[in-house]
Amino acid sequence: MRAVVLTKFGKSDKAFQIQERDIPVPENHEICVKAEAFGLNFADVMARQGLYDDCPALPAVIGYEVVGRVHAIGKDVKDFEIGQRVVSLTRFGGYAEYAVADARAAILIPDEMDYCVAAALATQYATAYYCSAYTTQLHEGEHVLIQAAAGGVGTALVQMAKNKGCIVYGTASSQKKLDYLKELGVDYPINYKDTDFEEFINKTSGKKAIDVAFDSIGGNSVKKARRLLANGTGRIICYGAASMSGKRKSIPRLLKLVFGFGFLPSVELLLKSQGITGVNMLQIADNRPEALKVCMQEVSKMVVEGKLKPTVGGKFSIDELAEAHDFLGNRQSIGKVAVHW
Ligand SMILES: NC(=O)c1ccc[n+]([C@@H]2O[C@H](COP(=O)([O-])OP(=O)(O)OC[C@H]3O[C@@H](n4cnc5c(N)ncnc54)[C@H](OP(=O)(O)O)[C@@H]3O)[C@@H](O)[C@H]2O)c1
Repeated sequence: MRAVVLTKFGKSDKAFQIQERDIPVPENHEICVKAEAFGLNFADVMARQGLYDDCPALPAVIGYEVVGRVHAIGKDVKDFEIGQRVVSLTRFGGYAEYAVADARAAILIPDEMDYCVAAALATQYATAYYCSAYTTQLHEGEHVLIQAAAGGVGTALVQMAKNKGCIVYGTASSQKKLDYLKELGVDYPINYKDTDFEEFINKTSGKKAIDVAFDSIGGNSVKKARRLLANGTGRIICYGAASMSGKRKSIPRLLKLVFGFGFLPSVELLLKSQGITGVNMLQIADNRPEALKVCMQEVSKMVVEGKLKPTVGGKFSIDELAEAHDFLGNRQSIGKVAVHW
């Protein structure tokens, strides 16, 4: 089979090589999927840039999700049959024609579901669901701040928050993305390149207006969100550090990021009745695979029912992988980006 191997960190057109590999054999609890497509995630961009600590040692086949048909089944797997169409979360290995996945991290999908829509479910929509409906709950009328709201996870969070009747503040870096956010129903689209989102929210809705902040930027963005947080209800879900992207990894930069987050004594959270939660879906996949399955099943159900609508941001062929990476990494993409074989 063909696999796209990350052989060195750096520019998208030099980092990957297509190599022949053996088709992987599933362990007892796994399935092997013959992929028609795989999804791109921002973590892939960070991995290519050498900024992603969870990335396996090079040479590595990265990739978090594949869409395709079940090709082989481990002996303990009861809920899948060969030939069924699935999307599955791969713990790396997704950039390949065949990939193995824990059967608990795979869901059946209808034949007619667009592969890019399906690819959005395993990582981006499951992450958004875990952040907004599993680790915490959103309530009608709550004021919710979503960073990088036009992205894959961002779009999912906006749809989930609007479904709950929340008032949504969504940040993005261009007018095109702001127009998209308006269409999605974001009440306050904010261009955080030219507008300080903290000042904007303070002016628009008053101090301590935010009940829930979803942060994928990291560093100072979290510190600002903390200052906006309502007493009694305020919670921040930190799930990314996109602000590190494009920068060389160095101790001073890491320290800036860490200090940017700020330090918050637990007693302050207690006194203000606030919470801060970190989310890393790899930890959920490793330690709570049944939670991941619930998240994937719930989002799949809501997509089939029309309650969630993943946005197809970009479809690329395997020969255009470098372009796909740049499209996502250079902040041009809206919604989901996927690559087909
Ligand atoms: N913790 C987890 O388990 C988990 C799981 C999935 C995703 N994530 C994180 O969630 C975030 C969204 O992931 P995604 O795959 O859906 O990606 P995405 O949101 O589609 O793309 C990333 C977005 O981040 C924004 N961004 C902010 N600073 C940036 C910078 N310096 N360079 C490039 N982009 C920057 C850009 O939006 P603007 O142009 O609008 O700023 C960009 O479009 C990422 O930070 C990712 O690492 C975490």
